[in-house]
Amino acid sequence: MQIGQKENERLRWITLNSSDTDIPEGTDVIEGLAQTPKTLPCRYFYDDIGSALFEQICDLPEYYPTRTEQAILEAFAPEIAQLTGPCELVELGSGSSRKTRLLLDAYSKIDYRLQYWPIDVSAGILKTTALDLLDRYPALRLCGLAGTYEQALAQLPRTSLKNRMLIFLGSTLGNLNPTQCNDFLTLIQQALQPGEFFLLGVDLQKPTPILEAAYNDAQGVTAAFNLNILSHLNRQFQGDFDSTQFQHWAFYNTVEHRIEMHLRSLSSQTVILQDLNLKVLLQAEETIRTEISRKFHLPTLVGILEECAIAPLKTWTDPNAWFALLLCQRQCINQDCP
Ligand code: AVJ
Repeated sequence: MQIGQKENERLRWITLNSSDTDIPEGTDVIEGLAQTPKTLPCRYFYDDIGSALFEQICDLPEYYPTRTEQAILEAFAPEIAQLTGPCELVELGSGSSRKTRLLLDAYSKIDYRLQYWPIDVSAGILKTTALDLLDRYPALRLCGLAGTYEQALAQLPRTSLKNRMLIFLGSTLGNLNPTQCNDFLTLIQQALQPGEFFLLGVDLQKPTPILEAAYNDAQGVTAAFNLNILSHLNRQFQGDFDSTQFQHWAFYNTVEHRIEMHLRSLSSQTVILQDLNLKVLLQAEETIRTEISRKFHLPTLVGILEECAIAPLKTWTDPNAWFALLLCQRQCINQDCP
């Protein structure tokens, strides 16, 4: 872990390195492309261009999750702050932190030493957001962590005696398959002390046409977001993906209850990723799955959280029950509580 220069009293940067995990960068790309069907890890969407495209997705008329979650937070952020009391806010995948501002507003009313740790793989958006937030919240102290969730959860420093709340909004949990989801929730549980909090936003099951429209917008922003993963890989690993030879494809898998995003190869082609020493053969019509976005059944998810010892204290949804926000609390397990 490298600590960046201290820019001022209220702002710090920490860059989390992949060397900390001992797995060489790109191993996940090699593994994904060796699978049938081929897959790519969805975190490669989020270079600076991809993060900007995702911000555009959030404003699309078809993409209901962001504004629905935002509305829930607008209504209940003060109640959340009341329930937890003063605490340090740590957000996984903070991006532009636009929804988090509602929490910062609520916590600034009950906590004179507001402390926020945004974590994101995209250092660009992290910096812009941090500077903007410091302007806006005069009492805020902020420490930005550039890296993956796994790196961050494993290396998160404990800086104060305060309570902590981990925040994971936007239904990013849906990107994980059930096994990965359980592993992730275990990491969350381990990063919290008994009594500390986890605020989780998840997208819920709903009719297929609503879901499919959200991932096939009329303006083609989601298509551009999907295809951008190839430019990111080209840049990062000296690749030669030709994005004109791929097409965006997204559909709702009603058996697995998940949106699947794929890139369909328009021809039979060979792609090279020099830095990974990798040559990939694609048939015409073959697809690479770039993302799953699971849609949750609330009672089932509550059961999983209970099993992971982070049971929900309170759950809120919008009037249509399209999206849910769960305030979970780390339980006592084994001998870790008096
Ligand atoms: C930010 C991962 C929750 O799955 O809906 C948006 C990403 N992909 N449109 C989602 C996304 C296509 C988004 N998450």
